[in-house]
Amino acid sequence: MTQNSVPAKGKVTARVAGLLIGTVMATLPWYVGGPHAMQHLESFWNCLITGVAMMAVAGTAILWRRAYWPGWVFLVLSLWTVLSPDTLSFQMPEMAIAHLIVGAFGLVTSVVWIRRALGRLPADRPVVKGRTFRDCSSTERTLYGCVMVVLGFGYLMALSYMYMTHEGLSGKPGLSVQDVAISYYGNRSGTKLEAMLRGPMQGYRSQQDMDQFVAWLKSGADEAGYNKTIQPIVEHDCAKCHSAKSGMNIPDFTTYSGITKVAQVNTGMSMLTLVKLSHIHLFGIGLVAFVLGFIFTLTALPTWFKNVVIAAPFVAIVLDIATWYLTKWDPIFAYTVVVAGSVMGLSWGTQIFVSLFQVLFPGRDPESEQPAANA
Ligand code: HEC
Repeated sequence: MTQNSVPAKGKVTARVAGLLIGTVMATLPWYVGGPHAMQHLESFWNCLITGVAMMAVAGTAILWRRAYWPGWVFLVLSLWTVLSPDTLSFQMPEMAIAHLIVGAFGLVTSVVWIRRALGRLPADRPVVKGRTFRDCSSTERTLYGCVMVVLGFGYLMALSYMYMTHEGLSGKPGLSVQDVAISYYGNRSGTKLEAMLRGPMQGYRSQQDMDQFVAWLKSGADEAGYNKTIQPIVEHDCAKCHSAKSGMNIPDFTTYSGITKVAQVNTGMSMLTLVKLSHIHLFGIGLVAFVLGFIFTLTALPTWFKNVVIAAPFVAIVLDIATWYLTKWDPIFAYTVVVAGSVMGLSWGTQIFVSLFQVLFPGRDPESEQPAANA
């Protein structure tokens, strides 16, 4: 079956190993813990489906030797095998350990497999098209290397800045999806006034006052309501400190304009801020993505892979900015902001690391190994 398409070339040990690993995975429920595994349905189906998928991928690769994608698919399946006990939260420790072992074998196998597939590729077909770092002069490589280092640091700084400005908004340490949601959507359930009345100013108001304040805030904190219900309370309870007369350097609540500053509902970033940030981001990130992507075009990697990695940041930035506005509308879109950000981070990370590596070691691309691989 294989002879007609490609001359049998290169070893298939990794693929056969892949087939075996898939078989072990698919039959795992029957010999780890025996029938117990059947009680945990997710675990059972996970083994069966992942195992059969591994077998199918390895089988395809044995029959269809030119294909190089099965190696990557196998890598993903092996990663999933390692991670799945945690994700699906298996109860049985034996099963989790078995997954770790099978997954580890799978990872090693796929690395060997991918290395072979990449080493053999240029002989089969020209995957690496166009100029590579090997064709660049050393001055060009110096320039590209320096730009990559500086932009890489720039990106790390941007990440730190994002962390520092968003972290802890939700009141919990660390950066969470809630923090992202709050910075775009705002925290509409609370105003400064309400927070202070529940906290430090608690001692100066009665529960009845509190109910009046909350009702006024919920109704939109308008001036008519202030004059009717709030001003008398302020005069009685707060004015001895919160008035111009008191001489204290704190907001004056005896007038409507004085109290609105703390009675405003926090609706997140204003439209103006968002539009400002959007155009700065689109211009800035667009240009950085161009520079990084342009240099990345010179790496010796399969064209489809380069296309994906180069296009991803552009898609991500448009998606990211679109969702800032959507997050203002519904905080659930904060998840998309996070996903788009991760896609951008991953693809830029790949571009910077691979480009830097190949700029430093331009001789190590698969093309240069071609004579050795053919021998
Ligand atoms: C004994 C004086 C005193 C009284 C009475 C008092 N406050 Fe305050 N309030 C302060 C001081 C001092 C600050 C500033 C220190 C701080 O932020 O904790 C403050 C801060 C605030 C703030 C935050 C202002 C800002 O923009 O930072 C709010 C809101 C507030 N008070 C509401 C009230 C309300 C409503 C009342 C009446 C029920 C009240 N306070 C009564 C002394 C007082």
